[in-house]
Formats: sequence, C-alpha cells, structure tokens
Amino acid sequence: MTDAKDRQWDELLAHGATVAEQHIADLFAQDPERFNKMHRQFGPLLYDFSKQRMTDETVRMLVDLAETHGLRDWISRLFAGDEVNCTEGRAAMHWALRLPIDATCNVDGADVTGQVHEQLARMERIVAKIHAGQWRGATGEVITDVINIGVGGSDLGPLMATEALSDFTTRTKGKVNIHFASTIDGSQLSQLLRETKPQTTLFVISSKSFTTIDTLTNAATAVQWLQRSFGRRASSSILHCHFIGVSASPQKMTEWGIAEENQLGFWGWVGGRYSLWSAIGLPIALQVGMQSFRQLLAGAHAMDEHFRTAPWKDNLPVLMGMIGVWNTNVLDVNALSILPYDGRLKQLPLYLEQLEMESNGKSVKRDGTPVTRSTCPIIWGDVGPNAQHAFYQLLHQGTEAVTCDFIVPVRRYDEAMHHDAAEELAAQHQLSLANCLAQSRLLALGDAALKDAEQMPLYQRYRGNQSSSTLLLDELNPYSLGMLIALYEHKVFVQSVIWEINPFDQWGVEMGKKIAMSTLAKIRGEDVSLDDTDASSAGLLRRIKAEWKS
Ligand code: F6P
Repeated sequence: MTDAKDRQWDELLAHGATVAEQHIADLFAQDPERFNKMHRQFGPLLYDFSKQRMTDETVRMLVDLAETHGLRDWISRLFAGDEVNCTEGRAAMHWALRLPIDATCNVDGADVTGQVHEQLARMERIVAKIHAGQWRGATGEVITDVINIGVGGSDLGPLMATEALSDFTTRTKGKVNIHFASTIDGSQLSQLLRETKPQTTLFVISSKSFTTIDTLTNAATAVQWLQRSFGRRASSSILHCHFIGVSASPQKMTEWGIAEENQLGFWGWVGGRYSLWSAIGLPIALQVGMQSFRQLLAGAHAMDEHFRTAPWKDNLPVLMGMIGVWNTNVLDVNALSILPYDGRLKQLPLYLEQLEMESNGKSVKRDGTPVTRSTCPIIWGDVGPNAQHAFYQLLHQGTEAVTCDFIVPVRRYDEAMHHDAAEELAAQHQLSLANCLAQSRLLALGDAALKDAEQMPLYQRYRGNQSSSTLLLDELNPYSLGMLIALYEHKVFVQSVIWEINPFDQWGVEMGKKIAMSTLAKIRGEDVSLDDTDASSAGLLRRIKAEWKS
C-alpha cells in the first residue's frame, strides 16, 4: 500500500507541475463548461471550485488518492463510534449529537441516541423556563440576562451561531439578552458586570473539562460579584438561582457548586471544538428557540448522511478536503482566508480557526512518526467587505499564495422578517453579493478580468491566479448553517486521514498552561527565583515588578 501511495503522490506532483504552469484565466478560457463541471449542489449549498487551480483530471486523481489512503474505512470507523481519537483512546461522535430521535445508535451497549435526546429534552425545559420568565434570581426577580462563560469550543461555537442566527431570534425569548465572556483577563466580564444587574443575571458555566482556568476564574469573579451584592448569607441560593453548568464532568460541576438540576451534560466522545451541537449550544437555543436549534442539528445531520453515502466525486466534504490537500501539498499554498460576505458570519473565521488549526495543526502521525508533508494551512479571515479595506491588498498584489473560501447567502432581508428599511437593506445585500463575485473573479483572473491592463503601470496590475472556492447558501438559516459547519468538520476529518494525523486531540496546548502556573508564582512573588527561566522572560518579569512597585 505504501508503494501505491508513493506512486500516487508522485503522479499527483507531476500533474501539479503541469497545472501550475497554467493561469486560472487560461483554464477558464480553455473550457467554457468549467463552472458546470466544477460545482456541486447539495440541498441549499452550492460549492463552486471552478476558481481553483485544477482540472477535471485533478479531481479524479484526488478521489483516487483518498481511496488509497483508506478514507472509506476511516469514514466507516468514525460513524461506527470506533476509537478514532487514538491518543486519548476515545471515539469522536459529534455526528451522534444530531441524530434524529428514531435513529438507532448503540455503541459499547449504550443507547447513544437515547442519551443525546434526554439531554436535549433537559435543555428544552431550561430554555422554556427562562423564556417564560419563570427562572428567578435569588431575590425573586425574573432573569433578563444570560452570560455564557467559556473559552475555545465552549465559547466560539455558541458565539458564532448565536450571531449568525440573529435574524431568527425567537419571539418567545421574552427579554432575555445573551452575552459571552471568555478572556482570562476578565475584560469582557468586567464590561458585562457594569451593564447587567446581579438580581437578573444568570451565568452559564460552559466547560467540557470544568477545569479550564480561564473559565473558572471568570466564574469565580461572577460568584464574588453576586455575593457582594446579596451578602454571603445567600451563598447557596446564589449558586442555585444564578448558575447553570454545562460539562462532560458532572462530578466537577457538583464540586464547584452547580445544583444537580442545573447541570447539563455531554460526553467525552464530543471534542470541545465539535461541541456546539450538545448542551454547549444552550446560548444558541436561548437565542433562537429549541425548534430552530433542532433545525441546526437537522442540517448538520443531512451533511453527515451526505458525507457517509454520497459518491466522492459529488461529496462536498471529500471534495473540499481533498482540494485543501491539493493546495497545501501540491501547489504549496499554505494560507486559507475565510471570507463571509454577510456580517452575521463575522465570528465564522475565528470559529474555523479553532476547528481547523487545533484539529490538524499537527506534525506527528498516528503511528508516532513525524509527518513528511505539510499539514493544516494558516487560517484567518474576516467579513469579506471589511477585509477588502484591510488585508485584500496582500491577496491581490502581495507575494504570498493564498486560497480563499468565499461564503455568501443568495437571499437576505426577507420582507416578512424585516422592518421599514427592507428595500434599502436588500439593495445593500446585492452590493455585498456583487463585491463577493467581483473579488473572487479578480483574484482568479487578474489582469485578464480588466480591459487594457497592459497600458497600466506595474503597481496597478493584478497578477491573479489566487484560487478560491465559493459557498453559496440559498439563505443563512439554522438548517443551512448546520450544514455549513458540518461540512467544515468533515472536511477537516478528510484531510486528517490523508495527512495520517489524529484531528481530535490537542496536546500542543497543554504545556503552555503549566508554564503559566509556574510563571504566575513568580509574578505573585511566591517564587522569587528568576534563574530557572530564560533571559527574556526574566527581564520582562523584573520590569513588571518594578512597575508595580513604583
Ligand atoms: O486549551 C484548548 C482547549 O482544551 C480546547 O480544545 C477547548 O475547546 C478549550 O480548551 C476549552 O476547554 P473546556 O471546554 O474543557 O473548558
């Protein structure tokens, strides 16, 4: 098999060398049918990869490469609940969180669907109670503000989806405002504590492990804030009335003081960055209601089924993953920019940064040996039209090869949903769509998209040949968002299979946390020695302490 793999890589690299000689403008000029051949539609999602630097033949070769790398077997293992997360000895079953209630899923004798839907039902009861104004604070006042305290996957997913679905805010929500606090320095929390009232604020402590110092520190500050307002006598009612916990560790939630009836659980087999579909998604459900939250799950489930069963030449996650492999390993394009042309998706680039880079930012293979090819590219992005006024200069005229994902809904500002300015806002959306299409065209074609480009000075020319894919959504709604996110999750999995790495662990983030604790002892003067640290850190520590003394 290794020989077959090596041979295929050699063939792919040779093919890459010939493709790389051609400009995307030439590829379009050669084949008027290019778009027809190089886009796929699944439900409300259209994936256009015709602006990638590749040909029909490339697609065929990439599908073969996936076959040789055992992708078929890995997909079966993922959906069978095998221990695909080898360094932590567990399954990765985020897909099971979106199974419909009548699906059968038994893993190691446990009825997974039953457990998942039991937690969803618990979540639904909590959402209903808060929306109905029946969740009261320690003084009997109705809760009006919910602050989600969490970080990483316990923050980015709910934050991204809550903003993305802001137009779908449920009418039954009453006057509940949803906020997020994640930063360890307390900057978001301090602002929120100024804006909210202790009597009417409920905190959701979201942490898979319930040991993350960032989250526990913010949570401890929240407790102190409430105690200062209510007095210590109210300690137990403070915890009972003002804190919900969401975690895979009920024991740790209990030790912290979360009442059993305020605990929502999930499981070790859900990775943090794959957890928005679980009770970690409580803020999303509070924003859009349970019905829409279930639509989000349904959209993701449809993508799961598509990934599991669609032929690979039409399979969106397989194509997207393999095109990423092509860019990274054949064309040496090691940067991916995520560019949504919809302000509601402002948080999507941040969310995908964690999903992709924490999953596939690895350099050791599953078999314990170092990788020999590049893995995850550097990913960043912003709302496209804003980024046009910030970093597009580099995309158009810089020296680096970057590939882009343009994401845009076709329909927006449905009259039924919108107010007095519906017509003007619809026109703004058209402007956004036009910008999206114009930018991807210019990036791909360069001067060929312009008239008389040769007359212009070099500094006004566009070299083009910057590849991109466009994801066109019929509209951004809970169902299509679920599909979109699941698409990226499975794309990451496909790439991990080709790169032979484990996408479900994150050992690289552990040591920094430990060093931070020993550094904290030095900052606080509990450890006065600076000899055991490097000269830069020692110098900075001295300066910090000198500043505090002055
Ligand atoms: O430090 C990285 C990480 O473990 C992420 O993988 C995770 O999403 C985040 O921290 C938060 O972890 P937890 O949900 O356990 O608080």
